[in-house]
Amino acid sequence: MKHFLTLRDFSKEEILEIIDLAISIKKEAKKGEFVPYLEGQTLAMIFEKSSTRTRVSFEVGIYQLGGIGLFLSKNDLQLGRGEPMKDTARVISRMVDMVMIRTYSQAKLEEFAKFSKVPVINGLTDEYHPVQLMADYMTMIEHRKENNPVVAYIGDGNNMAHSWLMLASKLGFELRIATPKGYEPDSKIVEDAFTFAKKSGAEILLTNDPKEAVRDADVVTTDVWASMGQEDEYEKRLKDFAGFMVDSTLMQLAKKDAIFLHCLPAHRGEEVSEEVLEGPQSVVFEEAENRLHAQKGIMVWLDRQRNKSIQE
Ligand code: CP
Ligand code: NVA
Repeated sequence: MKHFLTLRDFSKEEILEIIDLAISIKKEAKKGEFVPYLEGQTLAMIFEKSSTRTRVSFEVGIYQLGGIGLFLSKNDLQLGRGEPMKDTARVISRMVDMVMIRTYSQAKLEEFAKFSKVPVINGLTDEYHPVQLMADYMTMIEHRKENNPVVAYIGDGNNMAHSWLMLASKLGFELRIATPKGYEPDSKIVEDAFTFAKKSGAEILLTNDPKEAVRDADVVTTDVWASMGQEDEYEKRLKDFAGFMVDSTLMQLAKKDAIFLHCLPAHRGEEVSEEVLEGPQSVVFEEAENRLHAQKGIMVWLDRQRNKSIQE
């Protein structure tokens, strides 16, 4: 059974197929047509970390597809009191049709998926945030940035940086990642990205110089300097990331018509200036809306895959 845990598990064709499906579901929704592709289905949404976009977009998404979402926060689940992931998986997946999880380690998510009878979707882990990247790529397409774009990611080598590495190396576009020294993406994930890039033709640059990354880029993106779970490192990171803010001076090095993306929530005056976030190149709220559409595409695609595998 196919899960949606990381883009590493997907081919270029599959990623584009899901995006196409999401775009067509978005078009239908914009015309007021809410096709019940997942009529009567239940999506369990397990959250071990906070969320605004992921929760709302999945809950509204499954509802618009004719199903219902079950919001399960760690505080309300026995999981929060130590019930193992593998037991939680075997219980919940007997009662629902699909599960989305936001948790800490990717290993925990994979453990859940291993024991689950139904498709599992990664709603963010410390390592990856693949559903966000599907919305980001949809936003790039809508702004005509899908044709051999140069994407510059400025900031922490975190779950977003890792997900960009997977998307670029699978689809074959140029990705430049600029991080402060000591905050580079995970070396194993970088190595895998280079392996995928050999097949796709993607160019990947890792640098400690934001200017080098942004020069003539089509898309400039960043993320918070301290992710969920790193709150204790916040003060240290503020110092270590000095010079890595995406501000107008940096943005000017990108192409004139470059777009600015940010998965949000944004910290103004840290990884991005108010001027850039609120400026004409910023498409961050369209990007946030696309979470809804992209994830509807993912859920419908996973359901179709499951039905295919049952028929085989
Ligand atoms: N971008 C994103 O995943 O936002 P939330 O943490 O609000 O879900
Ligand atoms: N890197 C951030 C993304 C939030 C959507 C975090 O993990 O907190």
